[in-house]
Amino acid sequence: MSAYERAERAVSPIAEVVLAGLMQRRKSLPPKLFYDAEGSQLFERITELPEYYLTRTEARILERYAGQMVEAAGDGLTLVELGAGTATKTRIVIRELLSRQSRVTFYPIDVSHTALEDAVRNLNGDYAGLEVRPVVADYCEGLDGIANTSGEKLVLYLGSSIGNFEPMRAGAVLHSVRGSLRKGEALLLGTDLVKSERVLVPAYDDAQGVTERFNKNVLARINRELGGHFDLKQFKHVAEWNPKCSRMEIYLESLREQTVSVDSLAMRVHFEQGERIHTENSYKFNEHMVRSILSMGGFELERTWTDRRNWFAVHLARVK
Ligand code: AVJ
Repeated sequence: MSAYERAERAVSPIAEVVLAGLMQRRKSLPPKLFYDAEGSQLFERITELPEYYLTRTEARILERYAGQMVEAAGDGLTLVELGAGTATKTRIVIRELLSRQSRVTFYPIDVSHTALEDAVRNLNGDYAGLEVRPVVADYCEGLDGIANTSGEKLVLYLGSSIGNFEPMRAGAVLHSVRGSLRKGEALLLGTDLVKSERVLVPAYDDAQGVTERFNKNVLARINRELGGHFDLKQFKHVAEWNPKCSRMEIYLESLREQTVSVDSLAMRVHFEQGERIHTENSYKFNEHMVRSILSMGGFELERTWTDRRNWFAVHLARVK
């Protein structure tokens, strides 16, 4: 039986990516594996950590400038959010839209149906004139289904989620988003900005160890879903700033030489002491990088709002 046949026969939909990631010479696991129910809860806790400035800073920018953003975006807008999660920050934009138009249709798009259910439950009833139509899907497919909605679309892509992709991939993702939009429609894109390593590293390696648990949840998830035998104590959470690539890099580092079996994959994974599994890149942007990924995607940068310390930015981009 080939390795891929083994993965196909395994119980979990994550089998194939886990197998592929752990078979490589340089081991890696994709960041989307973080977000099962447990991981999504841990991420919510991360957003409240004192060191994790991203969510808070972006929310402040939105609170302060949502009026200008919506005004610049256009009239009679239909709201779409990519990776909506629980749609907390979205409320700021919804409130602003409803002060200018009597009805708003909101399409939150997310791969997690539990997160979407929370979003719908949270929003429905709170705003007269708001209609929520959740879409469980990957960004690209999800947008396909709503390409022909009435009204001009305003797409939210917040939280620097785009920062998980290498710049070329980020450009490609934006290009596929653009594929479901019409000329002149608008995108609000949130990006974290380059700043001192003394601020960046603690944001991804907090004192309470929540990010460590979030990172190690990938191994816990393999244990739960694929019959893995990872001993979480035998791995160390590592967060490093890579200035050449302008990104934070997150790893799980083996504290000793060890072999770990994963029953459902009929696999034994060997680790040298100090060997790492790469689990995430989180790019930190400057204006040049933002312009470049937007232009690859077929968007034009129209305006940028930032906080006083210039730690985070929200950009209004327009389909060319
Ligand atoms: C959800 C991808 C924006 O990169 O800051 C937080 C994920 N990883 N702490 C980020 C994350 C570790 C987060 N994004």
